[in-house]
Amino acid sequence: AGPVTVPAIRARKGGTPIVSLTAYDYPTAQAIDDLVDFILVGDSLGMVVHGLPTTQGVTLEMMAMHGKAVMRGAKRALVVVDMPFGSYEESPEAAIRNAMWLMRETGCSAVKLEGGTEMERTIRFMTERGVPVLAHVGLMPQKVAMMGGFRTQGRNTELADKVMRDAEAVSAAGAFATVIEGTVEPLAREITEKIAIPTIGIGASPACDGQILVINDLLGLASDYMPKFVKRYAETSATIREAVSAYGEDVRARRFPGPEHCFGVKKG
Ligand code: KIV
Ligand code: NA
Repeated sequence: AGPVTVPAIRARKGGTPIVSLTAYDYPTAQAIDDLVDFILVGDSLGMVVHGLPTTQGVTLEMMAMHGKAVMRGAKRALVVVDMPFGSYEESPEAAIRNAMWLMRETGCSAVKLEGGTEMERTIRFMTERGVPVLAHVGLMPQKVAMMGGFRTQGRNTELADKVMRDAEAVSAAGAFATVIEGTVEPLAREITEKIAIPTIGIGASPACDGQILVINDLLGLASDYMPKFVKRYAETSATIREAVSAYGEDVRARRFPGPEHCFGVKKG
């Protein structure tokens, strides 16, 4: 099969669940390229790669740099790059200018932005002009300052109606799929049944048309704090510590480097 396209993802509505992960660098993209349908260069990189407290400090330049690295490693998976806080909210014109710059710099096929009804006009403006948009509704980490923290969405009906309206808006505006983050199961299910585009869940139940996780969380390459929706498939931080500790012991005991790692002097 050739490279995964935007229409191919769009056509997966109601079919075999779409598999997605974030990646931020070349070796990770290479390792997962044939195992996922699309790779998201998420602005979560601000937190999990750069150690920032939220995603609000992430810049377009940071997204472009990581996006380029991922593109070099991804041959088959579709690559979507997140638009960071401050790069699309002001106007449809600002959004498309920054999105096209990101696509040109990185060669990625699509961008993602957070927001529902308030972004409907922008998403329509972008998609009608050739910029494929993955939407992101429910819990929106870039709005953490407004929300006063990361909170599950849809627990009360007023907010649930808002998330439903957001999902309908981004679908109508031409997004090819939407992430639904941190949303209670009944609402995620209802949205998935109601809208025409695939829903990609993160903390939004198996009812969605696909799933995404932050790869550092899945790999256990992260801080001790883990949201409830994460399943750790490996303990990479522990593996790193074991390897480095063994290296340190070898160096101190002069067991490393061994004869097989040393350059000899040629005879004659
Ligand atoms: O930035 C990110 O990694 C994301 C996903 C978790 C959906 O937006
Ligand atoms: Na993001």
